[in-house]
Amino acid sequence: MNFSVAVIPGDGVGPEVIARATEALDAVGDIYGHVFNYVELLAGGRAIDETGSPLPPETLEAARQCGAVLLGAMGGPKWDALPGRLRPEQGLLGLRAGLGVFANLRPAALLPQLRAACPLKDEVLAASNVEGKPAFDMLIVRELTGGIYFGERGRIESGRGAAFDTEKYSWEEIERVLRVGYASSAARRKKVCIVDKANVMESSRFWRDVAAEVSKDYPDIETSYLYVDNAAMQLIRAPGQFDVIVTSNMFGDILSDEASALTGSIGMLPSASLAGIPGAGSPPGVYEPIHGSAPDIAGKDIANPLAAILSAALMLRYAFSLEEEAAALEAAVNRVLDRGLRTKDIAGLGGNSAEKIAGTQEMGAAVLKALEENPGSIGKRKGGESL
Ligand code: IPM
Ligand code: MG
Repeated sequence: MNFSVAVIPGDGVGPEVIARATEALDAVGDIYGHVFNYVELLAGGRAIDETGSPLPPETLEAARQCGAVLLGAMGGPKWDALPGRLRPEQGLLGLRAGLGVFANLRPAALLPQLRAACPLKDEVLAASNVEGKPAFDMLIVRELTGGIYFGERGRIESGRGAAFDTEKYSWEEIERVLRVGYASSAARRKKVCIVDKANVMESSRFWRDVAAEVSKDYPDIETSYLYVDNAAMQLIRAPGQFDVIVTSNMFGDILSDEASALTGSIGMLPSASLAGIPGAGSPPGVYEPIHGSAPDIAGKDIANPLAAILSAALMLRYAFSLEEEAAALEAAVNRVLDRGLRTKDIAGLGGNSAEKIAGTQEMGAAVLKALEENPGSIGKRKGGESL
């Protein structure tokens, strides 16, 4: 089959990791008989340099015509002095809002191969309750097109001045992201934890009103609530307790960075931003690594391409319903890690001699090679027996 993918490499390490992700997609296509047609689009800092706008209207228009958007990262010190509405990040926020991708799925699991890169002590992990295994496996569902990121903001020019940003959520905005959380949890461990600041914020209390209603539709899923400060602590004390966390835009931004550090590196975590419940045939989603543009390491061939490659796997799964292909790509990443290949960010601290440090390109090439080997599942492979 043919699939159209809008590709926005963006800034910093974006282009080098996205190149690895499209190579991986092409390899998947070769094996399974699909063709991915890429439409490269401009947004972020590069778009500012070339067009004067962080999100040229043609980019949004073209992205809407594609089946999915694969995005690298946006931003960098070069554009830091620009006024807020002209910053590269506005390209990202505008794209999210323009495509209506209100639910941002950020899975964070500890892969056994990366145990040495996780900062938590053995006792902490051992106390985790994921089927008795010393591990954690959570999905953060972050609201992505509302709240303080999009609320009224401004400056007040009186005296020395003042400034404000506003957290505002409508019932519908909360309900739809909660439903994505519950639907995701149904296929997992059936626990939804809603993270808020309901002891202080009215908008958080409103989230709980909505959750009280919505949760009735999911009687077999356990609902719990945590204040965000406590949640930040629980993530470090006992990360295994979490299955699905549903939270607001800003709390999700913060907690997902924290969770990523537990997995060993932010360079490992993919994300999917969806405009509806996965598989519902909704408008194109945005698939991107959560690490951002990392300008300090851009162009040095040291960035970890795995988050981008794993984002491509999420795209296969959610945008194109290619579950077997997605799983094959994820399995290839796993095999590469099994063999001890590590980009610098995920190298263990214990001097494990079985590890070998690889650059961005070498890591990407290793994933391609692992993909081409027998994946264990040959269901839909070209030339393989159809299951
Ligand atoms: C993220 C990033 C963005 C966000 C920035 C770059 C605007 O931190 O995707 O987590 O805050 O949403
Ligand atoms: Mg962030």
